[in-house]
Amino acid sequence: MVIRESNFLNFGFLAAWFFCLSSLSIATPTQNCNPNDYSALKEFANQLINGPVKFSWSNGTDCCKWDGVVCEDGGIMSSSSNRVVMLRLSGKGLKGRVSESLCKLDHLKSLDLSHNYLEGRLPLEFSNLKQLEVLDFSHNMLVGPAFGPIAGLKSIRSLNLSSNSFSGNLIGIFPKLVALNISNNLFTGEISSKLSVKISKLSNLKTFVLCGNRFSGCFPNVFGNLTELEQLVAHSNSFSGPLPSSLAFCPKLCVLDLQNNSLSGPIDLDFSRLSNLCSLDLASNRFSGPLPESLSSCHELKILSLAKNNLTGQIPQSYANLSSLTFLSLSNNSLVNLSGSLSVLKRCKNLTTLILTKNFHGEEIPENMTGFENLLILALGNCGLNGRIPNWLFNCRKLQVLDLSWNHLEGNIPSWIGRMEDLFYLDFSNNSLTGEIPKGITELESLISVKSYTYSLNTSTGIPLFVKRNQSSSGLQYNQA
Ligand SMILES: *[C@@H]1O[C@H](CO)[C@@H](O)[C@H](O)[C@H]1NC(C)=O
Ligand SMILES: *[C@@H]1O[C@H](CO)[C@@H](O)[C@H](O)[C@H]1NC(C)=O
Ligand SMILES: *[C@@H]1O[C@H](CO)[C@@H](O)[C@H](O)[C@H]1NC(C)=O
Ligand SMILES: *[C@@H]1O[C@H](CO)[C@@H](O)[C@H](O)[C@H]1NC(C)=O
Ligand SMILES: *[C@@H]1O[C@H](CO)[C@@H](O)[C@H](O)[C@H]1NC(C)=O
Ligand SMILES: *[C@@H]1O[C@H](CO)[C@@H](O)[C@H](O)[C@H]1NC(C)=O
Ligand SMILES: *[C@@H]1O[C@H](CO)[C@@H](O)[C@H](O)[C@H]1NC(C)=O
Ligand SMILES: *[C@@H]1O[C@H](CO)[C@@H](O)[C@H](O)[C@H]1NC(C)=O
Ligand SMILES: *[C@@H]1O[C@H](CO)[C@@H](O)[C@H](O)[C@H]1NC(C)=O
Ligand SMILES: *[C@@H]1O[C@H](CO)[C@@H](O)[C@H](O)[C@H]1NC(C)=O
Ligand SMILES: *[C@@H]1O[C@H](CO)[C@@H](O)[C@H](O)[C@H]1NC(C)=O
Ligand SMILES: *[C@@H]1O[C@H](CO)[C@@H](O)[C@H](O)[C@H]1NC(C)=O
Repeated sequence: MVIRESNFLNFGFLAAWFFCLSSLSIATPTQNCNPNDYSALKEFANQLINGPVKFSWSNGTDCCKWDGVVCEDGGIMSSSSNRVVMLRLSGKGLKGRVSESLCKLDHLKSLDLSHNYLEGRLPLEFSNLKQLEVLDFSHNMLVGPAFGPIAGLKSIRSLNLSSNSFSGNLIGIFPKLVALNISNNLFTGEISSKLSVKISKLSNLKTFVLCGNRFSGCFPNVFGNLTELEQLVAHSNSFSGPLPSSLAFCPKLCVLDLQNNSLSGPIDLDFSRLSNLCSLDLASNRFSGPLPESLSSCHELKILSLAKNNLTGQIPQSYANLSSLTFLSLSNNSLVNLSGSLSVLKRCKNLTTLILTKNFHGEEIPENMTGFENLLILALGNCGLNGRIPNWLFNCRKLQVLDLSWNHLEGNIPSWIGRMEDLFYLDFSNNSLTGEIPKGITELESLISVKSYTYSLNTSTGIPLFVKRNQSSSGLQYNQA
């Protein structure tokens, strides 16, 4: 009874509060969207081939109530009508050109037209959108230069033009940028020294994604003041020159991916300052010299790929400290001392993928080893290794992939192979093995059914370890990369 009474009291209070609110809004006239914004949106919709069919903008004249439109009123004291500040039409099936009428929405702060079928060039009047902070055109079919039309967007903080066919040079940059994502386009050319100076001043920049373009020339060494940088992703371009040493001044850097370029020289970066580094991919470049010793202080490092370079020497003892490491690929370098390498890496307890293919040429495979209990993938193919298939591999009970192909291994295939229950890819081909194939192999459950494994392996590493044999067949092939 007492409880009911107090509930009632609360209701009374709420009702009074609502009354107060509604009397306030009655005091100002009911607000519709601004007529300028209304006609700009109508024009935009009408120029689309499938325009308002997909997103119903035909109901009423208050565009602020339309799907994907967000308005902000001019304030209680203001007599001005509601202005469109946000347009969110991601994945609405929009088809056709981007109408220049959009440029009339001069209060717009956020425009998201990602994942549609927009085509043609960007209209030139984009610079009118002086308040625009977020622009996302990603995953459309837009062409032509992008940085001319949007050059005047002084307030822009997040710009995503990725996965279109934009071309031309990167000619401008925006002083307040926090995130720039222009991946998977046809941008070309060098990053000029004038532009480099501007980039070096982007002190709020967190995300810088340029991958999958045709940029060339020296990678700019401009990161000395970019203390907020968390991700630099510039793989699959034609950048050359040394690794930018100023990256050492980005203490928050987590992802550094420069693979598949033509960078050269030693991996000369003071990694001891990068205590947040979680993923480093410098594969498929022309780096030479030793593995960087200072990397061992990156205790957060989970993914390390330095494959397909010309690195020499052995794995530093200090790498035993890489306790977070789960994925390591060093294939196709000129590393030596397999036995020493394994005794270092066995202390990285979280290691699940170890790819050392094409190194250690002509060495002996170590007979005695411990550790590697968590290993799922071990690739030691094409190393010209001598010796026998070692029995310590039986301790790697979780192994799903074992590649010892293209070596000079002798002796029998051990019978314990038949008890490695998770094995689904086994390659002993092109060795000098003798004797019979153990019967147990033919009974391995996982060798017969592969689907779930390949899926989980590919997604856990983010790197495709299995690729289609060819377009038409459904078979999968281990990706020797
Ligand atoms: C808009 O009108 C269409 C019919 O013309 C109707 O199907 C739809 O539900 C209406 N949408 C809203 C948000 O009122
Ligand atoms: C585009 O990139 C921005 C900035 O990196 C990001 O916030 C946004 O989620 C991306 N858009 C899509 C559709 O992935
Ligand atoms: C860049 O944009 C693409 C969308 O095309 C998105 O998938 C990716 O996550 C974005 N990257 C970042 C770091 O925002
Ligand atoms: C960082 O900015 C300051 C002040 O603008 C400047 O003096 C300094 O040279 C810059 N440092 C680097 C490494 O660019
Ligand atoms: C490497 O980059 C080139 C463009 O420079 C691209 O065509 C190619 O597909 C990339 N290769 C891989 C494996 O990503
Ligand atoms: C790798 O480096 C060695 C010297 O350390 C050099 O002789 C060799 O030509 C390099 N190989 C390639 C493919 O660049
Ligand atoms: C591992 O790190 C500890 C301190 O974090 C250090 O004392 C030790 O020398 C390191 N081990 C190696 C092999 O570098
Ligand atoms: C190792 O992996 C386990 C299980 O995934 C995780 O809980 C632990 O934090 C990892 N250790 C390090 C040092 O990353
Ligand atoms: C291995 O690296 C060399 C250059 O270092 C390159 O020519 C060769 O194609 C690479 N092999 C594979 C399988 O990637
Ligand atoms: C191989 O590495 C181990 C451990 O780092 C070291 O003790 C050994 O001397 C090395 N062997 C050669 C031949 O360099
Ligand atoms: C491996 O260990 C066994 C037994 O502990 C020992 O007899 C053998 O000599 C060792 N082999 C090598 C190559 O160290
Ligand atoms: C076997 O491996 C050697 C390298 O050890 C290689 O040169 C040869 O082409 C391979 N043969 C076949 C048939 O794969």
